[in-house]
Amino acid sequence: MRIALLTGGGDSSAINAAIRAVVRKAIADGHEVIGIKRGWRGLVYDEVEPLFMGSVSGIIQRGGTILGTSRTNPFKIENGLENIMVNLRKHGIDAVIAIGGEDTNGVAHRLAEHGVKCVGVPQTIDNDLPGTDYSIGFDTAVAVATDALDKLHTTAFSHHRIMILEVMGRDAGWIALISGIAGGADSILIPEVPFTLDEVVERIEKRRRMNKHFSIIVVSEGARPKGVEEQFVMDQKKDPFGHVRLGGIGNWLADEIERVTGHETRVTHLGHLQRGGTPTVFDRVLATRLGAFAVQMVEEGTFDHMACMCANQVKAVPYSEALAGTKQVDLELYELAQLFF
Ligand code: F6P
Repeated sequence: MRIALLTGGGDSSAINAAIRAVVRKAIADGHEVIGIKRGWRGLVYDEVEPLFMGSVSGIIQRGGTILGTSRTNPFKIENGLENIMVNLRKHGIDAVIAIGGEDTNGVAHRLAEHGVKCVGVPQTIDNDLPGTDYSIGFDTAVAVATDALDKLHTTAFSHHRIMILEVMGRDAGWIALISGIAGGADSILIPEVPFTLDEVVERIEKRRRMNKHFSIIVVSEGARPKGVEEQFVMDQKKDPFGHVRLGGIGNWLADEIERVTGHETRVTHLGHLQRGGTPTVFDRVLATRLGAFAVQMVEEGTFDHMACMCANQVKAVPYSEALAGTKQVDLELYELAQLFF
């Protein structure tokens, strides 16, 4: 078989490990792999390159994606779908493996309606795809955020400051919650649970009464105070999937905390540092298992499904389930986190 492989959407740190697994397993099983450059864009504009064993040597530890990525939505491009169909035929592609988040996999799911045989691999630092316990890149992003919290602790302690770390997480607060637990944050603010300023201030003041003169707050970019309907945005520009760029909740919160308490409050935006760097062991192994399993799914004809990790077992989940809504954080874990401040 000839398998096309693409990586789309926001990147993260272990995509190359998944590319390597797909290519190695596919070639070992006698297939050919055609790399599609920069996500769905490469199939629309016919930017492709064959991938061989040598193409994926020495990349398991490298962040980013050797194929490049983009947030291209072919259904928003004139003749986008037609071009994809032409290029799939031109290169004799039997199946497509798409590595990405809800947008990239959502396109793959829509293409199934047009007879394209697609298999998905979940990759997003947000970890918000419902079909899988873990998406590639999440563990590394959490490690980066936890390291940042550790570093903020020492300076917060020295200066008696309130330190806010704003992390990614559009509609789900996985990065904030898990890094907040691991990094000992005193308040964890996530999109799933709107907060009040009073609660945040109360935790800061309780700590001060316990002679702890600093506090650490981790906030998801998508979090918002109770009663505020809109998330904080950088600007009104939308990407081809209709998402605005979030950001600014950290600054708003810092101003409010200073206004109410008089305590010096500083903000760190972790931004794209969460998407880069050396992938963790967990992410490398996850990417390897899911990538190889995606090839097995192609071989077995399990299309319009995503390779998922469920209770530490790889499993094919239909796209209709794997992409149904947003996987929100475990609220029991969130409640547990409330104990620590
Ligand atoms: O891919 C998910 C994500 O990392 C979100 O957490 C974040 O809101 C968004 O991507 C940022 O994307 P970009 O780098 O395209 O601005």
